[in-house]
Amino acid sequence: MAKVFIKTHGCQMNEYDSSKMVDILRASQGYELTELESEADLLLLNTCSIREKAQEKVFHQLGRWKKLKAANPNIKIGVGGCVASQEGAAISKRAPYVDVIFGPQTLHRLPELITSACNTNKTQLDISFPEIEKFDRLPSPSVDGPSAYVSIMEGCSKYCSFCVVPYTRGAEYSRPAESLLREATALVAAGAREITLLGQNVNAYHGAAPDGGTWSLARLIACLAEIDGLERLRYTTSHPRDMDDALIAAHRDIAQLMPYLHLPVQSGSDKVLKAMNRGHTIAHYLRLIERIRAARPDILISGDFIVGFPGESESDFADTMALVRSVNYGQAYSFKYSPRPGTPAAERAQVDEAVKSERLARLQALLKRQQQAAQDAMVGREVSVLFERPGRRAGQLVGKSGHLHAVHVAGARAEIGAIRRVRITGSEANSLAGSLVG
Ligand code: SAH
Ligand code: F3S
Repeated sequence: MAKVFIKTHGCQMNEYDSSKMVDILRASQGYELTELESEADLLLLNTCSIREKAQEKVFHQLGRWKKLKAANPNIKIGVGGCVASQEGAAISKRAPYVDVIFGPQTLHRLPELITSACNTNKTQLDISFPEIEKFDRLPSPSVDGPSAYVSIMEGCSKYCSFCVVPYTRGAEYSRPAESLLREATALVAAGAREITLLGQNVNAYHGAAPDGGTWSLARLIACLAEIDGLERLRYTTSHPRDMDDALIAAHRDIAQLMPYLHLPVQSGSDKVLKAMNRGHTIAHYLRLIERIRAARPDILISGDFIVGFPGESESDFADTMALVRSVNYGQAYSFKYSPRPGTPAAERAQVDEAVKSERLARLQALLKRQQQAAQDAMVGREVSVLFERPGRRAGQLVGKSGHLHAVHVAGARAEIGAIRRVRITGSEANSLAGSLVG
């Protein structure tokens, strides 16, 4: 049987897309996934262009695969994802040994592209945006463990001035609710207990509904919560502008919706938020946090931050530090601003690299203290844990708490997929330790 190896860079959306590539190649051409590049007939690279010098990383990887192909000319190489979407033509020029180049919205055409590449011996390129078609053409999802992902919307139309997503993944498109309910039901029947709803801007969801109207994310979550056996729901990534009253209320009313919210704010300065085109103020964000915490007092708030955005002064950065102190994050990601070709902010006067690094170090030290404190505060408490896989040590299991903390517990393999009460006994660098109750 032919084997495919996939290397994935970037976000959960890319991980999801990679799993769909495997599903479609398995269903249409009988491919089997391998963990070893050396035994693969097809090598796929799913790329990311959100920050790093993504392009160079891509050519570095392709250079290594070129050698494998020189030794075995039957090997096919494919490049997908956001770098392919932005730089497709450049890739085919600089790396003509690549057989197929496809974007996030054309991964369902992979089998045809591979067949044409085999027949013509020419690079096949399709980086168009036929959004509506993608999900209609994917086979039913496969389940890998009790925690599954469903992409409910694609792309983004917000155009934050630093971000490539609207250019690489295209305009916002919400999948019809009925097909999502079908997909979720199938995942639960196949063993999923938790589903994370994915989207670059997931709470902007407004999908066609079975009743002829459109459903918001809150309405979709309420419906998914009715599925028997679906114990946990999550969603990511949300935008402060789309946190509506119904979604806040869902955190109070829907028991399956886990007490964790990733709500990126990027900066604590109104001036910087405006330059970023985020479309809201700090006052609006703080009011939201207050209302979300009133609805679900134990919720853990997570965020994303960018330091050194063009025009960010020391006093703007001090505002970010002050915001972080006042919100108190249980989890957060922070990045140095990275100019992305084709985005408005890349054209502006840039902050010095050394200044960016110094600010990032200060912010990360603060966020790390808050994250550790949130974790340490769990010690002595009893929480529910969904066991996902065996731990590194024998007889150990790893699962996730409602707050998305990784928890290590001594337990039998048969418990994988079960949700159990666990008493937390210790807090380490990136995980908690606990023991089964009763
Ligand atoms: N849709 C999400 C974010 C997608 S990108 C949202 O609305 O926030 C994930 C994170 O990467 C962003 O939240 C931002 O913090 C970071 N990011 C995006 N573009 C960046 C850039 N050019 N430089 C540095 N960080 C960036
Ligand atoms: Fe990017 Fe802003 Fe959309 S961060 S994904 S343009 S909401």
